[in-house]
Order: sequence, then C-alpha cells, then structure tokens
Amino acid sequence: MDIKTKIQGYTEEINAFNASSAEEIEAFRLRFLVNKGIVRSLFEEFKTVSTEEKRELGQVLNVFKQLAESKHKSLLEQIADNSDKAGGSTQDLTLPGKGLELGSRHPLSLVRKEIVGIFNKMGFIVAEGPEIEDDWHNFSALNFPEEHPARDMQDTFFIEKKEGNDIALRTHTSSVQVRMMENGKPPFRAIMPGRVYRNEAISARAHCFFHQVEGLYVDEDVSFADLKQTLFHFVQELYGEDTKVRFRPSYFPFTEPSAEMDISCTICKGAGCTLCKWSGWVEILGCGMVDPNVLENCGIDSKKYSGFAFGMGIERITNLKYVIKDLRLFSENDIRFLRQFETETI
Ligand code: DAH
Repeated sequence: MDIKTKIQGYTEEINAFNASSAEEIEAFRLRFLVNKGIVRSLFEEFKTVSTEEKRELGQVLNVFKQLAESKHKSLLEQIADNSDKAGGSTQDLTLPGKGLELGSRHPLSLVRKEIVGIFNKMGFIVAEGPEIEDDWHNFSALNFPEEHPARDMQDTFFIEKKEGNDIALRTHTSSVQVRMMENGKPPFRAIMPGRVYRNEAISARAHCFFHQVEGLYVDEDVSFADLKQTLFHFVQELYGEDTKVRFRPSYFPFTEPSAEMDISCTICKGAGCTLCKWSGWVEILGCGMVDPNVLENCGIDSKKYSGFAFGMGIERITNLKYVIKDLRLFSENDIRFLRQFETETI
C-alpha cells in the first residue's frame, strides 16, 4: 500500500475516532503520536519516496500530523469538560459535602464578650483608650506621685522621654478612666477592655502584654456597698450562683479605700486544689472607691460626686474558667489550642 493510501485510511480512522475515557485517549496517543507511532513511521517512510512525490506528499503528511495532534487535544479537552460537569468521573457524588471550617473565637475574646455582656446588662457602656499613653493618664492623674515607689509596681515600657510627660505603653486600663472623666460629665458607668503592657520576662505565669477590663461608676452618693453588690452580681453571672466573694484591704494610689476581691475557687468550689493553692480562694480583681484626688485631677467635684472603680485581668478570669496553665498559649496562635474553643462550621 502506498503512503498516500495509508494516510487516507488513517485520516478516516482519526475522524471517526471517539473516546469516552482517559484510557482510550491514551491508546490513541500511543497509536499515533509517540516516537514509534504511526505519524512518525509515515515520516520515516516519506524519506524513501522520490523527490517529485515529496513535494505533494510533504504537504499531505503535515496536514495529517496536525490532524492527529489536534484530535488528541480536543479529546483531552472534551473529557476534562465532561468530568467537570459530572463532578469528576472518579468521584462518588453521593458523598456528603465537606464542612467549611470557620475557625474559632479566641478564648480571651470569648471571655471579654461575656464580661462586657454582664456589665452591659447593668447599664455599663464600653469605652476605649489608646495603648500608647502619656505619663499623666497612666500615672500622674491617677494619683501616682512623681518618684513614688508605687510606679515601680508596674514595670513600664517607655517610648519617649518627655519633660514632665513621658510617653509609654499603658501599663493598665485605668488610664481610660482618666480620659473618660476628663472628656465628659458625671454620671459615668463604663467598662473599658483593652491590652496593657509591662516590661516583664515572658514565662508561664507572666507576659509582657496581657488584657484587662477596667470598670468605673461615678455619680452622686455611690458607696462601697454599690461596689460590692455590682461585683458580687458579676461573679455570680460569670461563674455561677454558688460563687462566694470576699474582700481584702489593699492599696492602689487611685482608690481609697482599696481592696482585692477573691472568689471561692471555681475549680474545687472551695474544697482546696492546686489552682487555689489549697486555700479555697482565688484573687480575681482590684477595686476601691475612686480617690477624690483622681476626681479633682479630672475636673470633677469630689464633694458632689463619688465613685468606685475596679480592674481585672482577662487572662486570669479565663484561666479560672478553662484552667489554662501557661499564659504563653494565649499569644502563640497554636491551632491545636485555639480549636478547643467554640469551633464553628457551615
Ligand atoms: N490598675 C490596677 C492594675 O493594673 C487594677 C485596678 C485596681 C484597677 C483597682 C482599678 C482599681 O480600677 O480600682 O493592677
């Protein structure tokens, strides 16, 4: 059979060829397009024909080669298209869909939200202030005298030394109290969540940044009884109605009198465990009656108004809920840790 007749036969074969699977397309490729395939062998044979024949046959052969190649391409496209429509020929269409994980809320965000929710119901609004603060708002207005050792209670990250008013990262959210009182008129009833910074070595029990919620209530005739009842209600809402509280006298420059509040251990319910160091009690916050000096520093008449304030660490409150023994877990973003809290899927 001469080469032209062969090409004719193969052309008909290719035009009639249809494939319904990847295997069949591969068989087509092996028959026509590989090194030892038909196209190649026709080119070999082409070398043997006479020079006169070559001119015409060359063209025919090239057209044939293109036909084989474009057929192969269109077969591949066709099967890809079909498998898209069918969801892939090898897939089980009856399998349920994969859940899309939305991630989970950070435990500190969960607890902050809970704290904010409880105080919102008691009429406290949320206020915020800057993390980069000046000495006045972080210390002086809060009755920390210049050079007073109380300033050393909180190791400060200073940013800029300025004559009489250094710039630093706030060491507590009490600075937001000052901003609020300076910029408004009583009554004030607000909670102020936020991040605070202290120059401490990072370990399981200390970190150079953490989170606090500050509370402030200023009005006429606010008393220590209001403070006690507000905080008592708060812990009952947060940790359950069987939670007991006790107040111990303490010292903060910005409150007088000052106290620390303990609650009955949330883990052992007062029976004694490692968390409460077998005392049955755990400290959760500092509080007190706003010192009249602080009110005056913020332009509020301390004869007419009184108030209470409190401050708590969100990490601590979270530990007492979830027993997280290493503070570093809160900021390492380890997915195995984060996954344990309120994972949502759709
Ligand atoms: N600012 C204090 C701290 O960081 C916490 C605190 C204690 C805030 C007593 C208050 C308060 O408002 O009355 O340790």
